[in-house]
Amino acid sequence: MAVVGIDDLAIYVPRLYIDYKDFAEARGIDPQKLEYGIGIKKMAIADTNQDPACMAANACLKLMQKNHLHPQDIGRLYVATESALDESKALNSFVIGMLEQVYGEGTFEHAGGIECKFACVSGSYALHDNANWIRAEENNDKAAIVIVSDIAKYDIGSAGEYTQGAGSVALLIKENPRLMAFDPKVASTVIKNEYDFYRPFGKETPLVNGGYSNLLYLIQVRKAFDAYKEKALKTGLIKLKEGEAITDYIDLFSVHLPYRRMGEKALAYLLRHEWRHLPRWQHVIKEVGMDEPTPKDPRGTIESILADTQFMKADEQFRRGFMQTSFYNEVYERKMASSLEASTVIGNLYTASMYMGLRSLLEFEYKKGTDLTNKRIGFGSYGSGSSAMVFSGLIQPTYKDVVKDMDLDLEIGPRVKLSIEEYERLHRNERGFSDAVTNAQREFVLVKVGGSTADKAGFRQYSYVS
Ligand code: HMG
Repeated sequence: MAVVGIDDLAIYVPRLYIDYKDFAEARGIDPQKLEYGIGIKKMAIADTNQDPACMAANACLKLMQKNHLHPQDIGRLYVATESALDESKALNSFVIGMLEQVYGEGTFEHAGGIECKFACVSGSYALHDNANWIRAEENNDKAAIVIVSDIAKYDIGSAGEYTQGAGSVALLIKENPRLMAFDPKVASTVIKNEYDFYRPFGKETPLVNGGYSNLLYLIQVRKAFDAYKEKALKTGLIKLKEGEAITDYIDLFSVHLPYRRMGEKALAYLLRHEWRHLPRWQHVIKEVGMDEPTPKDPRGTIESILADTQFMKADEQFRRGFMQTSFYNEVYERKMASSLEASTVIGNLYTASMYMGLRSLLEFEYKKGTDLTNKRIGFGSYGSGSSAMVFSGLIQPTYKDVVKDMDLDLEIGPRVKLSIEEYERLHRNERGFSDAVTNAQREFVLVKVGGSTADKAGFRQYSYVS
């Protein structure tokens, strides 16, 4: 079977941001809650002339330019988003239109692609569908590009407001990739009809059951992880010896990051799940200083766990204790911490969050001097509504060619801090496209929506500012 994976990735982040201290003051929140309880310092905010389509096109153009790609090299261009602009016209069609302003009209005509939706997890489905398209040799020697692009916008004054962000990641999927090859036959999913977070038609901000969404994320990723484990053992990808856990064979973790702290909690949840039946657990318990509580209902459904208030309270206490143990912290520092750096200064990017986390993991591990060759990354992708996907990949010996030039600060560029008043005006869409805060440079921007006649309603016009 062909070796397929991520050859390179490029990012686009709007340069406007709000600072957590200003935000905390305006909302009367302890800044320590945002810095440590959530894990946010800066949230990226889209300018008046930016939308998920032009951010996606900007990330894609960067990816193509730095890899000297021509549209003829690309057979498929997918965009995964939950910030759709039209009920029918796919976001990637807007992106193609923008790219053709640079590469020439009709240059992508031979290609294909769709817009994918399943909250934050759809990019992971898009990656695997395209990897399989290449494995099936339907690609005629062409690569695929998957772009994940979103604006995370919550109601002013809501608890979700401090988990906002905006940005895009474009991923190049190829045979014999330089960066990371997907482990074959192990990608695993779970799915369930849920209402933890959703955005009905016509509504700009989501309806959220925050606490419920946190727990559901943990449970769904754990279930997908169990399915991954079954496949990894069955295919022989991982062979466990006495007393070992599957997480021992995952060198680095990249999970969905609605906010930094959620990643830390997801790791704790997985490690507890994997370790509690192993001999090492008695040492962990000793360090936590209390027994791990068990729910009344051993099936542990979300409904039964939430109804078991005594268990919830004790489990919260145990979870906090576990996250302070040397056992947890050693794994956290070595395998996850680097993936969380970008989230702290950008915020939630919905579909793009986990892939921005991957980008962060690669850059900051490389800067630490870690040899990443043949290291396995385990991914925990989650989308509300809800579905989770767990998969893994091996970093390739050629990874340095791609990672050596990664520099988050440089790539975002000089950032502009918004006052809370300016941010709220943008949030309420009170400024027009022509009244942007920043000056666009070498990027696509939105210049007009709608036309002079009714049949042109919803037309979106973009322009490349050189
Ligand atoms: P909240 O009401 O701020 O939660 O909502 P909290 O009161 O539990 O506080 C959060 C943490 O801050 C806690 O830490 C507090 O102890 C701590 P933890 O117990 O979790 O370790 N804290 C403090 N720490 C230091 N100093 C202090 C202090 N005070 C409190 N003074 C919530 C948080 C995330 C629920 C909210 O922001 C929200 O609803 N966000 C939107 C939904 C969301 O992000 N859900 C995540 C899971 S679902 C998901 O990831 C999918 C999603 O990306 C959408 C998609 O799939 O498309 C959202």
